[in-house]
Formats: sequence, structure tokens, C-alpha cells
Amino acid sequence: MEPKRKISINDLAKMKKEKKPVAWITSYDFPFAYVSEQAGVDMILVGDSGGMVQLGYEATNPVTMDEMIHLAKAARKGAPNTFLIGDMPQGAYEPGERDAVLSALRFVKEAGCDAIKCEGGIRVISKVKAMVDAGILVMGHLGLTPQSSASFGGYRVQGKSVSSFEKTVEDALALEKAGVFALLLEAMPSEPAGQIAKLLKIPVYGIGAGTMVDGQLIIMHDTMGFYHPFRPWFAKCYIPDVISEFQKYISNITDLRKVGKDERKDGLLVLATMAVQKYVEEVRNEKFPGTEYSYPIPAEDLKLLEKSKFWK
Ligand code: KIV
Repeated sequence: MEPKRKISINDLAKMKKEKKPVAWITSYDFPFAYVSEQAGVDMILVGDSGGMVQLGYEATNPVTMDEMIHLAKAARKGAPNTFLIGDMPQGAYEPGERDAVLSALRFVKEAGCDAIKCEGGIRVISKVKAMVDAGILVMGHLGLTPQSSASFGGYRVQGKSVSSFEKTVEDALALEKAGVFALLLEAMPSEPAGQIAKLLKIPVYGIGAGTMVDGQLIIMHDTMGFYHPFRPWFAKCYIPDVISEFQKYISNITDLRKVGKDERKDGLLVLATMAVQKYVEEVRNEKFPGTEYSYPIPAEDLKLLEKSKFWK
């Protein structure tokens, strides 16, 4: 089989133009990154959410750069041919432009990442510019930004009020001007997120940001039902959708010890790949997130947003 061709930022820009939704997922280790690549995702994020789902922290704030490099290196080994994005943990970029560039370069040089993502807009714009000027591909992240969620009162849906929407648009425009290749919006209703996707030329993706953006991200452990402390309301566990297909597959194998001498394709690896494939299929067919996995916006709030100077 031909190795998969890694997507480029030109492909991503083309997919936005052609309205082809991008399907991406987080992975933090060798086996699940392998699953992601086999399932045909467009991109993988080594998120600092790995600090929670993989390392057991209660939030993403304690995650260090060394821990992120450890996770990203393993993910790269599992998915050598997939566009891999390293997530800058808190403290890796805020102190100054030089810190931001050096941290980002660690993702590229030590872990083999293709790009980095960092949270924040205007408040971190000088650091974003410095990384872009250093030739690093940078993705922005706005909306609910977990590293600074305490500053807006915890994990709350964003972009519902005129002030929150306009602040997000101003941050998004500043990031686009600074040269980010794409933007991720987290936890916003479809309509304001869709407006931002329309206003920006670069691709705008969502995690819990509804149906009108240019692609979807999901946390791997949520698709598997593999993280017991918490699952956001917008995330879907895909195991129930694929369990009967998996049972059929496994029942056709008479002796599991005889599965593949070079490649073992049974058990959790197959089940997980089926689940991620289903997610990719649903994103590409625009079935996920649908209204079921999107935040609603009250009609009176939407009416106010429609009067914003940024509403197209
Ligand atoms: O760390 C992560 O996985 C993220 C997503 C929640 C957007 O940043």
C-alpha cells in the first residue's frame, strides 16, 4: 500500500474553498496515533489535554514543555505521515517572544511536529508573530481557552453575547494578520463560530463550535469513552456505533494467536480504528456534530448578535 500523503497548509486552504470539512483528532501516544493515521484523519493534535486524559492532572495548567515533547515524540512515531500539531502548554510562550520561538522549535526539531497551536489572541500576538517570523506554522485557538479559563469564570460557552463575540472576532482578525495558518474555536454556538469562519480567509475549525466551521476536532479519549472524570457535552463516544461491526470482525477470527505475524490487527486496535473511521466519515458527511452535539443559542441572543458590526 502507498504511504498516506501528508496534508499541507495549501490543501487545508483548498478544502475551505471547496467546503470539504477537515476531520482531526487528538493523540498522545504511539498506539492511538497509529489508529488515527490508519483511520485517515487529516491532522493530529498532541493537545495539552493529554495532561488530563493521559497523565491524570485535573486541568491542563500543570503540563510542562518536557511532558508535551515526550507525548509528541511518541505520537509522531505512530503517525509518521499525518500532519502533526504540538500544543504549546501554559508557560511555554507567554513570558516572551524568545521563549515562544524556542518552545515551538522544540516541537519541530525534537518531536517532528509540522505545526504548533497556542491559546489566545491579541494578548499573545507579539509571540505569535515571532513564531511565524521564525518560519513556524502556527494555529490560533480562541473561544474557551482552557489554560486561561479561570479569567472568564471557568469552562463556559463563549461568543454568545455581543461583547464576547466581538472580542473573539478582534482576536481572530489579529491572529490572521499575524500570519497563523488556521484558527481553532472551542465551545461556541454554530452561528457566531460560522460568522468567524466567514470573516476569515484562513480555515477556522471547531471543537464544540457547531456545524458552520471548516472542520472538526475531537479528543481521542472522548470518542472511545476512555476518560472517566469528564466528557464535554459536545463530544461523541463512537464505540456504540461500531461495536456490532467489531463483533462481526472478531468472530471471523478463529484463533487470535494467528492474527498477522508482522502486524497484529485485532482487539482494541481494530475497535478504536473503526470508531475513529466512523468519526471521520461523519465529519466528512457533515453528520457530526449536527445540532445534537452543538451548543444552542437562544433566539433573543442571536438577534442581538445579528446587529453586531462584524455580522455578515
Ligand atoms: O489540548 C487540547 O486537546 C486542546 C483542545 C481541547 C482544543 O487544546
